[in-house]
Amino acid sequence: MEPFQWRTHHPEGRRRVVVTKELPGQRWLEILTAADCRVDVCTASDVLPVDAIKTAMGTNCQAAIGQLTEEWGEELFQTLREAGGRVYSNYAVGFNNVDVDAATRLGLPVGNTPGVLTETTAEMAVTLTFAAARRTGEAERYLRAGNYKGWLPSLFLGELLMGKTVGIIGAGRIGATYARMMAQGHHMNVIYYDLYANQQLEDDLAAYNDFRVSRGQAPLTCRRVDTVEDLLQEADCVSIHTVLDDSTRHMINAERLGLMKKNAILVNTSRGPVIKEDELVAHCRAHPDFRAGLDVFENEPEMAPGLSELDNVVIVPHIASATSWTRQGMAILAASNVAGLLRGYPVWNRPDIMPFLEGEPPRAAPSIINAEALGLTLAA
Ligand SMILES: NC(=O)c1ccc[n+]([C@@H]2O[C@H](COP(=O)([O-])OP(=O)(O)OC[C@H]3O[C@@H](n4cnc5c(N)ncnc54)[C@H](O)[C@@H]3O)[C@@H](O)[C@H]2O)c1
Repeated sequence: MEPFQWRTHHPEGRRRVVVTKELPGQRWLEILTAADCRVDVCTASDVLPVDAIKTAMGTNCQAAIGQLTEEWGEELFQTLREAGGRVYSNYAVGFNNVDVDAATRLGLPVGNTPGVLTETTAEMAVTLTFAAARRTGEAERYLRAGNYKGWLPSLFLGELLMGKTVGIIGAGRIGATYARMMAQGHHMNVIYYDLYANQQLEDDLAAYNDFRVSRGQAPLTCRRVDTVEDLLQEADCVSIHTVLDDSTRHMINAERLGLMKKNAILVNTSRGPVIKEDELVAHCRAHPDFRAGLDVFENEPEMAPGLSELDNVVIVPHIASATSWTRQGMAILAASNVAGLLRGYPVWNRPDIMPFLEGEPPRAAPSIINAEALGLTLAA
C-alpha cells in the first residue's frame, strides 16, 4: 500500500473495508467492528490517486468509504466489484465525484451522508454572507497590519441586509435552511430559483409573515422565480445551494454576473464549478462594491489567478461542513451505509436520519442513492 500510510482497525474482522481518509470520532469504527469488518484507513492527508485506491482494495475488499476529492468512476468500481465489493459510500452529501451510473451498472450500491450537513453548511453560508457584507476580512487585515488609528465615521462601511432581498439558487435541504435563517433571523425577503417548488419553505415563511404582521412588524415575502436571471437581477444577496451537475456547471458566468446589482453579494457553499471563477475575478475587479464569499473553488485546492488578492472577496478552504458534530455524523452515516448493506439490512426510506445518530440505530442503511435503480428493499 506504499507510499501512503495505512492503519488497520479490528484486523480479525472477516469483511474488509477500505477507508481513504481518517474520519473523526470512534462511533463509526464501532459500527463497522460490530458488522465484523476489518477496517483499513489511509492516514495520509494527500489526495489518494486512483491507482493507490485500487492497490489498497486489492483482491479482497467488501466495501469502501471514499472522499469528494477522489474520482469514483468505472475503474474503481470495477476493482471494488472484482475484489468482492458490495457497497461504496461517499463521505459527503454531494456525489458529483461519483459515477453513480457506472456503479449501478456493476450492481454496486452508492451511499451518501445527507441531513447532518444541513444546518452546519447553512450557518457557514450565513457567516460568509455577513463577512462579505460587513467586510470583515479586509477590516481584520487592516487591523492586524497596525493601520487602525481610531474610530472613524466612515471606516469600512458595508451593507445592511435587514429588509433587503436574498436570492437562493437551489432551495433543497441547505438552501431552505439558509433561507429560514436569513428571513427569520435577519428579516430579509426571500426569492428562490429551483427546478422544483419548495412548498414547505413557502408555507413556513408565509406562517412566519402572518406572525410578524400580527405583532405589527413589517411583512416579508417568499416566492419562487421562473429563471435564474430574474433572481440575479432582483436579489441584493445571492447564495448558491444547488447540486453540481451538467445543469449547474458554470451557471454563474460573466453574462449572469453582469445582471446582478453593482453592490450585490454572492455566496457559494455548494461546489466551486457552479461559478466560472476567472469571470468572477474579472467581475470583482471591475466592481469594487460587489462582494463574494466563497467556501468552494472551481479547481480545488487551486484558486483562479488573482482571486486571493481581491479585497472584496472573503475565502475559506471548503470548511462549510466542518463542525465536530457534523463530521462525526457523516462518519456514522457512511459507516452505517456500509455496515447496513453488508449485514443485509434494507434501505432507510425517510428524510429524518437522526435515529442513526442517537440511541439504538435502526437496522437499515441510511442513504443509498441508487437503491431504486438496483431494486434494493426499502425499510418499512
Ligand atoms: N461546501 C460544503 O462543504 C458543502 C457541504 C454540504 C453540501 N454541499 C453541496 O451542497 C449541495 C446541496 O446540498 P443539499 O443537502 O441541500 O442537497 P439537496 O439535494 O437537498 O438540494 C439541492 C437543490 O438543488 C436543486 N437543483 C438541482 N439542479 C438545479 C438546477 N439546475 N437549477 C436550480 N436548482 C437545482 C434541487 O432541486 C434541490 O432542491 C450538495 O449537492 C453539495 O454539493 C457543500
